[in-house]
Amino acid sequence: MCRYTEWLSRIGRTIPFFLLTLSLITPPAVQSQTKHNGQKPRSQASESDPWWKHAVIYEIYPRSFQDSNGEGIGDLNGIVQRLDYLQWLGIDAIWISPIYPSPQVDFGYDISDYENVDPQYGSLADFDRLVTAAKQRGIRVIMDMVMNHTSDKHPWFIESASSRTNSKRGWYIWHDGKPGGVPPNNPPNNWTSNFGHSAWQYDKTTGQYYYHRFYIQQPDLNWRNSAVEKAVFGTVRFWLDRGVAGFRLDAIPTLFEDPKLTDASELPGINAYGDRNQSSTLYENLPEVHGVMRRLRSMVDKYSGQRVLIGETYLPNVQELDKWYGGAKHDELNLPMDLQVGFINKLDATLFRQRISDAETKINGNQPLFVFDNHDNVRSWNRYGDGVNDEAIARILATILLTTRSTAMMYYGEELGMTTTQPTRKEDVKDPVGITGWPQDKGRDGERTPMQWDDTKNAGFSTAQTTWLPVAADYVTKNVKTERDNPESLLNWHRKLIAMRRTNPTLREGETIMLDTTNPSVLSYVRKGGTGHPSILVVMNFTGNTEIVSFDGQKDLIPGKASTLLASGISLAHQTSLNGIALPAYAVWIASLE
Ligand code: GLC
Repeated sequence: MCRYTEWLSRIGRTIPFFLLTLSLITPPAVQSQTKHNGQKPRSQASESDPWWKHAVIYEIYPRSFQDSNGEGIGDLNGIVQRLDYLQWLGIDAIWISPIYPSPQVDFGYDISDYENVDPQYGSLADFDRLVTAAKQRGIRVIMDMVMNHTSDKHPWFIESASSRTNSKRGWYIWHDGKPGGVPPNNPPNNWTSNFGHSAWQYDKTTGQYYYHRFYIQQPDLNWRNSAVEKAVFGTVRFWLDRGVAGFRLDAIPTLFEDPKLTDASELPGINAYGDRNQSSTLYENLPEVHGVMRRLRSMVDKYSGQRVLIGETYLPNVQELDKWYGGAKHDELNLPMDLQVGFINKLDATLFRQRISDAETKINGNQPLFVFDNHDNVRSWNRYGDGVNDEAIARILATILLTTRSTAMMYYGEELGMTTTQPTRKEDVKDPVGITGWPQDKGRDGERTPMQWDDTKNAGFSTAQTTWLPVAADYVTKNVKTERDNPESLLNWHRKLIAMRRTNPTLREGETIMLDTTNPSVLSYVRKGGTGHPSILVVMNFTGNTEIVSFDGQKDLIPGKASTLLASGISLAHQTSLNGIALPAYAVWIASLE
């Protein structure tokens, strides 16, 4: 399913009023790994086993992470101030959403200069300091690269729009309107933008339309023009030379469009912006994009240090996902995001089993990347929660993210159980998606509220009178300080899982084998241990009822005895038998198999 269809089906759930308190058990094995307040070192990465294969990558939305200068907007120096926390949590890399100079129409995804830092976030020197300070803590820095479009204030576009004969005219997609109509009401075709209404904007100066897949202020670059590839690849090099660990490629399936500009076929229904739904096959995921990905990969691979290419790839199925790796050739992206797993959006054990297995077996041995949360979607807390068992459900999602073989991508605040807090009045909305879509789609402000550090003013995010988005009201109890002090918190659950994943060879490498495969209520799998390393069993009750499961029939995979590594719920702390295990509602049990 295309991500924009996903957006249209955003779920406006009631925010939970209370949290279910769980008794959590941390057995001695895990306690000893974490007790000195610092994570154990990672195993060394090697040429054939690059760091990103085992990484936890943490997305920072820079406006909302930490404000260092009291303006109410987060910045690079703020991120530096919080690196110790990230090190404590145990993550391997941060991906920072765009920090380039930008008119901020789409909060940085409209870039007006690819080779600088927006003054509201700091300077290039601040960026270099951040990379160095992160490196000292074993954390890599990944940039966001927007290749599909620029800002309409980028000098390339200003030139391109200046006349039909300008040398950069062909860098963007300009076209005459349909004959017969009166501009601006005769766009070249019926394509609608992902952010609502026609994807074409009429330009009076030159009497033509330009194409924009996103906002009017985000004109699409013309990737059929080789000068565009050369220029954009140049900007990629600029950052690689500065030492970034790689890129998250924004909206990458939208790079190419049908050159004939054929009208899109209409689909039933009307979207949140009031437009007829339409098929996106003529402007999304066109095969030409793979040539660009191969050339980009080959360029990036020439740099030392295992730089990584991550894709924002909302795709319909695993076969399409595999193409983004280059299939068996492994010559395109290292980590196109698998959004099939994280965006199932309901606790359906059968679907999770199927999709995790697909990622294990149907992508030619490439490395999966799972994601549950990002800055564009209602937070997983709200998408999966039922308003009563939300915290227990969040533990299940974290367990899937961090105990499968996939690389893990987290979004700031996910580890705390931050919720989506929607604006209640249209006049408060900052994201233009919410302004156009109000009230059906309230936009993405709700999942971009400031990070909740403590219970002081503005949750410790900023000393400003007002912050760019309001801090969510639950910050008083849900914040880093409170949760850090509570060994049973969701934050410490994440930290323990990250520590186990980092230090346990079976969790690093072991094949994932599904168990009890017809059970609709409980998801269970084994991570298979290699010589000298016990296998690990992961069991999750997806329902609000007690479920009984038995694994003693599978002697080949499951030897006689288990010992708990981590469990939610007292009753599983000392579970050793693999027969007739009673799993309380939404319980998680992770056990080593001796
Ligand atoms: C991506 C970004 C989103 C942005 C869009 C246009 O989907 O994640 O935030 O609005 O691209 O650049």
